[in-house]
Amino acid sequence: MKTTATIIENARRSGVVIPAFNIPYLPMLQPVVRAVVDHDAFALIAVARPEWMKFEARSPAAVAEEFTRWANPDHVRLHMDHVPVLDEDNQPVDYLPIIRDALALGYQSVMVDGSRLPLAANIAATRAVVDLAHAAGIPVEAELGAVMGHEAGPLPPYEELFASGKGFTDVEEARRFVAETGCDWLSVAIGNIHGAIVAGARDQRKVEARLKLARLDELAAATGIPLVLHGGSGIRREDVLAAVRHGIAKINVGTEIRQPYEQAMRETGDVAAAQEAVYRRTAWVLGEHLAVAGQRRFIAAGM
Ligand code: 13P
Repeated sequence: MKTTATIIENARRSGVVIPAFNIPYLPMLQPVVRAVVDHDAFALIAVARPEWMKFEARSPAAVAEEFTRWANPDHVRLHMDHVPVLDEDNQPVDYLPIIRDALALGYQSVMVDGSRLPLAANIAATRAVVDLAHAAGIPVEAELGAVMGHEAGPLPPYEELFASGKGFTDVEEARRFVAETGCDWLSVAIGNIHGAIVAGARDQRKVEARLKLARLDELAAATGIPLVLHGGSGIRREDVLAAVRHGIAKINVGTEIRQPYEQAMRETGDVAAAQEAVYRRTAWVLGEHLAVAGQRRFIAAGM
């Protein structure tokens, strides 16, 4: 069986993207897997700390157990998304035990997010996770730059953010970061923002984000590793498709499938109806928005 590291690297070389779908509610997992299989696509099934702290994913163990029920390694792998060192409320997190647990539970890749720390501290925290995960043969994603949106409080106006490039990943820092940490994939900030998760703003429609492709090119050249686009919901489609040709090998999609689930639950209270809504939206992401249906053939040889 090919490792997730090999699959993401193959995606980068082939100029295709692997979506990672976030699971804030356990019943979302089954329809996401079903849509991926039905579209002959390949995807990661992901859970991030805010999703078991602030939503209903319950725990990394609960997600791993649900994943095992529907697992199909030719199509889906389990990924531990955002384990922050400083969380979205600026609280320090005991991140190493969470990573250790994820490895023991069989997560096939992990992300440490030290992006709210100064560079040297981010490097040190990421390095500690790389040492732990690589010893278990598991790849590590890290983040450099500010992908905003998970924090409480209003974002600066998007146009201002995009025009100023405030928080965008710095190219020389990225070069140093990858060399010194040995991380496998890097999440970059190039105009992408996360959908809001703070109560009261979760239902908001995301602004249509755009991407600075020139910066992405520089980051891809400086790092030489697969780059990751967080905040994958609601980005202008032509920018997403271009980003894939410019080094983005993994895209995280959360809000796009969470909001239909929550809306259907509010309107019907029926989990099966909400699962159907998730299936339809995941199918749209795969088949139309990202156009990755049938993509498995690019990465699957020898799987
Ligand atoms: P969106 O919710 O904006 O799609 O972002 C998801 C994400 O990046 C999770 O890590």
